[in-house]
This record gives sequence, structure tokens and C-alpha cells, in this order.
Amino acid sequence: MRWNEDFIEEVRVRNDILDVVSGYVRLKRNGGSYFGLCPFHNEKTPSFSVTPSKQMFYCFGCHRGGNVINFVMEYENYTFSEAVAHLAERVGMQVPENESTSAERAADYLKQRLLEIYKKTGQFYYRALHSPVGKKGYEYLRGRGLTDETIRRFGLGYAPVLPKDQSLYAYLKNEGYTDDELKKSALFRFTEKGVSEFFWNRVMFPILNERNKAIAFGGRVMGDGEPKYLNSQETVVFEKSRTLYGLHEARRAREGYLLLCEGYMDVISLHQAGFNNSVAALGTAFNERHCMILRRYTNEVILTFDSDGAGQDAAKRAIPFLKDAGIMIRVLDMKPYKDPDEFIKNLGADAFRERIKNAKNSFLFEIDMMRKAADLSDPAKKTQFEKSVATKLMEFSDELERNNYTEAVCREFSIDIGSMKRTIASMAAQGYKVPEQTKPVSHPSRSQREEEAREKALNAQKVLLTWISEKPSLYAKIEDLITAEDFTDPIYAKVAAEVFTQAKNGEVQPAQIMSRFTGETENANRIAELFNTKLEHAEGSDLVRAFEEVVRRVKEDGLNNLAKTATSVSVIQSIMKQRSRLAKWKCDTLE
Ligand code: UTP
Ligand code: MN
Repeated sequence: MRWNEDFIEEVRVRNDILDVVSGYVRLKRNGGSYFGLCPFHNEKTPSFSVTPSKQMFYCFGCHRGGNVINFVMEYENYTFSEAVAHLAERVGMQVPENESTSAERAADYLKQRLLEIYKKTGQFYYRALHSPVGKKGYEYLRGRGLTDETIRRFGLGYAPVLPKDQSLYAYLKNEGYTDDELKKSALFRFTEKGVSEFFWNRVMFPILNERNKAIAFGGRVMGDGEPKYLNSQETVVFEKSRTLYGLHEARRAREGYLLLCEGYMDVISLHQAGFNNSVAALGTAFNERHCMILRRYTNEVILTFDSDGAGQDAAKRAIPFLKDAGIMIRVLDMKPYKDPDEFIKNLGADAFRERIKNAKNSFLFEIDMMRKAADLSDPAKKTQFEKSVATKLMEFSDELERNNYTEAVCREFSIDIGSMKRTIASMAAQGYKVPEQTKPVSHPSRSQREEEAREKALNAQKVLLTWISEKPSLYAKIEDLITAEDFTDPIYAKVAAEVFTQAKNGEVQPAQIMSRFTGETENANRIAELFNTKLEHAEGSDLVRAFEEVVRRVKEDGLNNLAKTATSVSVIQSIMKQRSRLAKWKCDTLE
């Protein structure tokens, strides 16, 4: 951690969570909480809550939650330090020198300098595009149907050829950047003969990261020429395999799916036509790292790769990565056009929207690819093809769905449906294994029952912590009975210890407790859940009984858990003592 805890705590307290979240999400009051549509998952009815008294947010739909720092981390994709610094600035606090090592500082400094260089370079190219020297660049882009608004939005520019003293190099030197920094920016070639610019006489596409910061450039020749696109080399701030063009906007689109296409111009045309949920992998093949990034924002991707052979091959390669990441895939048919850019130019946005609606499940696309590869006039190859189709069909675990696809595919490829069903049945009989997660389960297995019991135990622990944090006076009722060790999950146990300490002093501050555990989003979400578990809606004596039941369950599970590993006599005696205390324990009132 870079700052001391007092500083972080002050930043947190001075940034009221309702204020901060309201800047991103429209919220409506309901009792002691505010509700809105979750910014982290796609939903139609609000399950995202902000509770000022707890200074916490929590989504009952996707179970993300935390304090104000966690919110900013999640929303802006900031690191913990970045989020703290952002919030400190927001309330006008001085950010103290952090305690990182000098090597860390130097690396941070270089990154920051490079980002400045790219920002200034982007502005330089943009200005050039709008000056006489860039006129042909401007006309080229307008000629391709881009509006001034689109050019501005994507910060498109032109890399001019200018006298030495007016060049990008001279400009950046004049702005105070060193040769070493400029070398590391990959915008220049340094040779014995001198310094030359990497990009010249090209229209320029700044590549922005998710935070809207330029981290690299792509440049296109105007008209024909090789290479058509030239992309920046990788630097400490630009990793091709994890960069997706357009993501800075697409990540906020929350359409429920993302459109994945091939090129700069496709993304830009799509955005201009209103599809601002489109992204492209640039200068490198789509890979699993891209998938991990995509997965943060969506669980469905519609592939809009080029309709030529290369594009279809690229789609075929991308599908397994997406599948492995658990992303649903549909494939859009662009025919008779080559890519989204051409399609939209010719048929317009409405026609494209129609194609999105009709985009096929990737299964049919894959079958189609297999068929094209096979020579179906050769009976042996046809049999082989049918076998492959059967294998693919078996990936559907749902019988109805499998039948539907079987019928569709047999109709489309004139395969005898009876024979296809027999092939599937015989493969199943020969022990072909359906992938693990799709195996149908009829009876809960032993491990499943254990899992359910564990769920129930954890739920009781969550409810108890929510209860105590909302009404700290209740702690007096269980003080002699429950300890943090009764919480079977290590994280819950740690949080319980904090909650109990604070409850003793009369007030529990969940958001403050959160701060101790921040840094890892996954933990943050789990802890937030501890303070936001739904409580019983009972009243009077029913409520007392509900409380008793939760307490008993927590204690019993805690003791059972302890008993499993207990070996020493003293521990066993202690368990017995606690059991008898639990048997006698009773709660008359919650007041
Ligand atoms: P395409 O050749 O399909 O270009 O390459 P495009 O998107 O249709 O571009 P326009 O419409 O002719 O301007 C798709 C993507 O592959 C990368 C670029 O990212 C491009 O957008 N590419 C292509 C290169 O990096 N270098 C190249 O020489 C060509
Ligand atoms: Mn194109």
C-alpha cells in the first residue's frame, strides 16, 4: 500500500458515496437506500443500491459491492492507488508523496511522460489535419464518410511532413521531453543519420486505453500503398494483445453485447452509425487476453469480421477463445459486403441492426466452415463431416436445444435426420463425454449436498454480520456466545472481528472496514455482501426467533467446523462447554 491508512480513511470519509455514485448512476431513494440500474451488469430493473448510512454500494443482481474507493476502481478500472488519488483530487486534498521505491517511482514517471507525449502528439496531428498541410488527410477522411463530429470524437489527425524546425520532434523537444523519452515513445526512429518520424503522410488514429488516454497510434496511407496501416510498436504503456480499439466508449455502452470487428474504420463507422458498442483488435490476432478484457464488460459478443476468407478464418480462430471465456457468440452475416464499414455505407444503420437481430449462433457458423472445408461429393468425406457435426451437436446439453439444432443443421445440409440421431446416440453409447459443465444432473450428489450446507452456513454468517452492523446494540446479546472464530470463511472471520470490535463501541462503519481489505476487487465484493444481506421481514417475536435461529446456525456450524479438526483434549472440552452454553442460550427481545 502506498499511503498510510489515515490518509486513505480521510479520502474515503470526505467523498460521500452518494455524491460520487450519483455522478455516474441515476439513483432513486427507497427507504434508507438509493436504487438505480447497475453500471456493472446489464439489467432492466434496478438492483444496484447505495446506502449512505453504511457508505456502501451493493448490487443484488451481480453481487458487486464495496465502499466509494471500490466503486471508482470498478467503474474506472483504476488501480487502488489511482482510485485513491482520483478521490483525493476530487475533494481538493493534497496527495502526499507516496512511499513507493525509487524504481517504482521512475517507472511511474516514465509512463506518465509517455502518456503526455501521446496526448500532445494527438493534438499535434489533429491540428495538422485541420491546417493547410493536412488538407488531403482531412479530405480523405471526409471522403470516406466521416463527419467532423466523428473526427473529433476519435481524435483523428494527420502526420505531416514539415521542415525540421516545425516537426513533431522539434515540438516535443521544445515541450521539454528528452531524447530518451522520445525514443521510448516509439514515435521516432533514431539512427546514426539522425532522428526521423515513424509516421508521415498518413491519416492518424490515436489508440486510446479504457481511460481515454492515447497510448499508441495507427496510421493509414491515403489511397493505395504499403503497408496500408502502420501501427506503433509496443511500449511500456502499449500492449497489443490487451488493447481493443473503441473500448473506451464501448465499455460504457451496456448494450448487453459487444460487436467485435476487424479494423479501425469498421469501429469508427459503427460508432458513427450509432453502434458505439463495437471494438476491434488491432495489428494482432484476437487472442485470449483480449477475451479476458471483453469478459469484464459483456457475456455476449457478435462477430462482425470481414466476410472474405481471411476474415472468416479469423472468426474461426476467435471462437474457441471466446467460448473458453464463457462468452456467448453470434456471427453476423455481412454479405454481400466485405466489412461493417462498407455495409453501413451501402445499406445503412437500420439494415445493420436487422443483421444483428438475425446473427446466427456460432454453432451454425462453425458447421458452415466445416462444410466448406469438406468435399461432400466424396462419400467417405461426407461421413466424416456428419460425424464432426454430431460431435458439435453433442455440445448442447439441453435436449430440446440439441434437437432444434439437429433439425436445422440436417435441413440445411440435406443430412438424413434419422441417421444423424443414430450417430449421436451411438457416440453417446461409446462414451463420448459431454463437457463437464453441461452434464445433466438429476440427483444431488454428496458433494452437492455438502455444497448446499456450506451455502446455508455462509448465508447465516452473512445475515448475522449485516444484522449486527445495522443494529450494533444486538452484539451485547451474543457477546458471550459468538466469536470471530465461529465464522468458517477466513475473510468472514476477519470482518467479523472488526465488526464486533466496532459494535462494542456502539457504531459499525462498514465502509471503513472495507478499506482494510481493498486492493482485490473479488474480496471487496464478498465483503460488501456481508453488509448487504437481506434480513428477515418478520416482526415482533417472529423476528426474535429469526435472530435466534441465525445465531444458533452460526454457532453450530462454527463448532462443527472446529470439531472436524480438533485433536487436543482441551479444544474438545471447550467445544463441549460451548455446546452446552448454546443449548441454554436464549434471546428474549431485540431491544
Ligand atoms: P483491412 O485490410 O481489412 O482494412 O485490415 P480495413 O479495416 O478494411 O481498412 P480500410 O477500410 O481499407 O481503411 C483490418 C485491420 O487490420 C490491420 C488494421 O488494424 C486494420 O484496420 N492492418 C491491416 C494492419 O495493421 N496493417 C495493414 O497493413 C493492414
Ligand atoms: Mn474497410
